[in-house]
Amino acid sequence: MSENLWSNVDEYLVSLLLPSDGALEETLAQSAAAGLPPISVAPNQGKMLELLARIQKSRRILEIGTLGGYSTIWLARALPSDGSLVTIELEPVHAEVARENIERAGLGHLVDVRVGPATDSLRDLIDEEVPPFDFIFIDADKEGYPRYLELSLRLSRIGTVIVADNVVRDGDIVNSKSSDERVVGVRRFLELAGEDDRIEGTALQTVGSKGYDGFALLVVTQ
Ligand code: SAH
Ligand code: DHB
Ligand code: MG
Repeated sequence: MSENLWSNVDEYLVSLLLPSDGALEETLAQSAAAGLPPISVAPNQGKMLELLARIQKSRRILEIGTLGGYSTIWLARALPSDGSLVTIELEPVHAEVARENIERAGLGHLVDVRVGPATDSLRDLIDEEVPPFDFIFIDADKEGYPRYLELSLRLSRIGTVIVADNVVRDGDIVNSKSSDERVVGVRRFLELAGEDDRIEGTALQTVGSKGYDGFALLVVTQ
């Protein structure tokens, strides 16, 4: 089965289910123009994030890995008018592009883009004793996923939903001997998620316009 077919099916699903969306299309165009890599979630994945956050009635969302703000915009649209979203990004240029995109989408008042290594920003949030987040999307460097899970749990409550992107990566994760730090990171993340009594979850493989990958869906249960 070819990637071309996966992309055609994604296009078909998107054409039927997702209305064309100027703010999101402009976000991708501006991100590309600024030289950001084309690694945002696909439109149908973005919509799934929005729906998960809305179904859960999320009022406070945390995102780790902003890029140009594409997934941020999907998630922020799930929020009520007095909700909030903190998104964390290492690269100042990515963060600036994201701020412009989020502003153009009319969501600037809901979103706080924090620049710096995710570990530092997460520790800052813990030190600030912010209220727990309802929904957390982990999508930054894959090496960091085990640490981001630990820190996310400290920013969670019972019922917090944690979604992690890119947990399959062309199936590389079944290679227990891989020396690729990204594979090692995702494998450790999944092990921790499975071992931790505070979490219940699952993971699904996906194919589509972004290739062969997958996401994990976790709920904090205690
Ligand atoms: N969530 C975005 C895509 C994120 S791509 C979307 O779907 O639209 C991953 C992002 O994580 C990149 O912008 C990268 O610069 C950022 N990143 C990489 N390492 C990081 C780190 N240590 N801390 C915070 N962000 C990091
Ligand atoms: C990469 C990162 C992502 O978050 C993604 O969805 C796809 C690729 C990457 O770093 O290559
Ligand atoms: Mg991703």
